[in-house]
Amino acid sequence: MDKVRIAVLVSGGGTNLQALLDAQETGIIKSGKIVLVLSDNENAYALKRAKIKGVDTAVVLKKNCADKADFEMKISEKLREYGVEMIILAGFMKILGENFVDEYKNRIINVHPSLIPSFCGAGYYGLKVHEAALAYGVKVTGATVHYVNEVPDGGRIILQKAVDVCEGDTPETLQRRVMEQAEWIILPMAAETVAKRIIGERTV
Ligand code: GAR
Repeated sequence: MDKVRIAVLVSGGGTNLQALLDAQETGIIKSGKIVLVLSDNENAYALKRAKIKGVDTAVVLKKNCADKADFEMKISEKLREYGVEMIILAGFMKILGENFVDEYKNRIINVHPSLIPSFCGAGYYGLKVHEAALAYGVKVTGATVHYVNEVPDGGRIILQKAVDVCEGDTPETLQRRVMEQAEWIILPMAAETVAKRIIGERTV
């Protein structure tokens, strides 16, 4: 059975990408294969992580595109070139429009660093999510992997994992704990679940 061809979209450090690449090696992800890592930031360390593992990379810069539709069209072209069947947003900091999302309905997943529906939606990304959680004073936070639809962080939830907030946490220490105890675990698990589902749909 051919593995599902996966593209991972990234913007920054790529620790979630690393977790996915490692999960391919350990066999946690066995139904899919990462064939492309695409970034909207040419300086993303995630690109280096992909290259170290011998995975092809591409960069699409918003500033070189006429508008959002053109940006998404250029991304789509790359994905088609690689025969991509499933997309993982792993710290990708752009919101994708309805046309793009419709093209890959139920085939795009995203990891978000909170327990949705808390601290999510437009404006909540990266450290800002943890700043908001600390400002509110929640004692438990976590991470969510969900399908991507036209509503930012609004698609159906696949997996969630709770993480304790500790006395004296800063946004940075909380971010790290949420990554270690939740994101890097549930993202590969969810990726396997979705890839397996896509394979099942092929044979129906
Ligand atoms: C992760 O915490 C991810 O959940 C978050 O950005 C970080 C990227 O880190 N994504 C969002 O906030 C999306 N709304 P990484 O580049 O090291 O994986």
